[in-house]
Amino acid sequence: MKIVILGCGGFVGSHLLDRLLKTDEHQIVGWDPDEKKISKHLKNSNFTLHKKYVDDPETQSDLRQAIAWSDVVINLAAICNPAEYNTNPISVIRSNLFDVYPIVQLCVEYKRWLISFSTSEVYGRTLSSYVDGAAYDNPDLYELNEDTTPLIMGPISNQRWTYACAKQMVERLVFAHHKEDGLPFTIVRPLNFFGPRMDYIPQRDGDGIPRVLACFMGALLHRQPMQLVDGGTARRTIVSIYEAVDAICRMLQRPERANGQIFNIGNRANEVTMAELAERMRKTYARITGDASFNDHPIVKVTSERFYGEGYEDCDRRMPDTTKARTLLGWEPNIPLDDVLFDTMTYFHAEYGETAEKEVEPIPGE
Ligand SMILES: NC(=O)c1ccc[n+]([C@@H]2O[C@H](COP(=O)([O-])OP(=O)(O)OC[C@H]3O[C@@H](n4cnc5c(N)ncnc54)[C@H](O)[C@@H]3O)[C@@H](O)[C@H]2O)c1
Repeated sequence: MKIVILGCGGFVGSHLLDRLLKTDEHQIVGWDPDEKKISKHLKNSNFTLHKKYVDDPETQSDLRQAIAWSDVVINLAAICNPAEYNTNPISVIRSNLFDVYPIVQLCVEYKRWLISFSTSEVYGRTLSSYVDGAAYDNPDLYELNEDTTPLIMGPISNQRWTYACAKQMVERLVFAHHKEDGLPFTIVRPLNFFGPRMDYIPQRDGDGIPRVLACFMGALLHRQPMQLVDGGTARRTIVSIYEAVDAICRMLQRPERANGQIFNIGNRANEVTMAELAERMRKTYARITGDASFNDHPIVKVTSERFYGEGYEDCDRRMPDTTKARTLLGWEPNIPLDDVLFDTMTYFHAEYGETAEKEVEPIPGE
């Protein structure tokens, strides 16, 4: 297959390249200014990297040519770091909406299949977060179905919703072009893919606040307290990146089944609160390092306002209905959370473990 991958140098892109370039089956042209996570593929004759942002004017003619040449365009390019949603909202909206629309239009023009990476954040808050008591446990109020669940976001002043809203708008544009112009499309709504190479370790190879895995991992590596935002009661389901990539490959193998569909990609069996995740991660790290003191590694509570700044609000729970991925793609994830954490944290320990403590001053918790 001839595949264009935008944002191919990130976490998902690097694992997708590992998988797709295992054989000689595919020719891939990618765009990403960052090549660190994909350096081992740069000499592969089946892969060409344009080290540019997709919105760079100098790359527009190459981009047009590549999309015209391709069988499928996979868009992963995004600013998708929760700490940016309320602190850097214009860049977040630009990256997730305005930079993406020209790609959608090129796919419309050449009638190319677009696999558009969205987010489970488009669901916003669950209906159950608005009710009290027993109704909270009614699955009809918290299970997320791709085609029937309403998308519920907070007020404009809570700028945390900029990312979700921009992604939702792209979904609506893609769907509208499908209806009006026959654009072939698949929308992927990931639910917390975890694995090696996710994000970066703060104070080591990036600034700011990455997603929760890297935040907790950084705290363990640097022997700083793990910080639970607003008590750590929010629940998420976690799926292995390897199984997530398998879902994408199944889409590529079954275009007729994936076309015109939105898919939740998540693992229902791996639901945890963020407090439970912190607990499991410190125990897993004790096992990996053989250092039992990590079993009691300090966990502190911090308000979302202090951690993320003004305008932050979280979704309480995200339980995906994955019936469609199972029935149309034959995809069913089954790697348990403890195995996902062990594999992922072993990678981070090998990459950063030895020097981490020596280089960073511990910060006090709240
Ligand atoms: N990983 C998850 O669990 C998850 C969850 C929800 C949504 N997603 C979505 O999946 C996609 C991939 O996520 P990821 O985890 O790999 O993120 P990531 O941040 O690791 O990778 C994104 C990549 O896009 C590149 N990029 C950003 N803007 C670009 C531009 N204008 N042109 C070219 N490249 C650009 C970045 O350099 C980065 O390498 C994103 O669209 C994200 O919103 C991922």
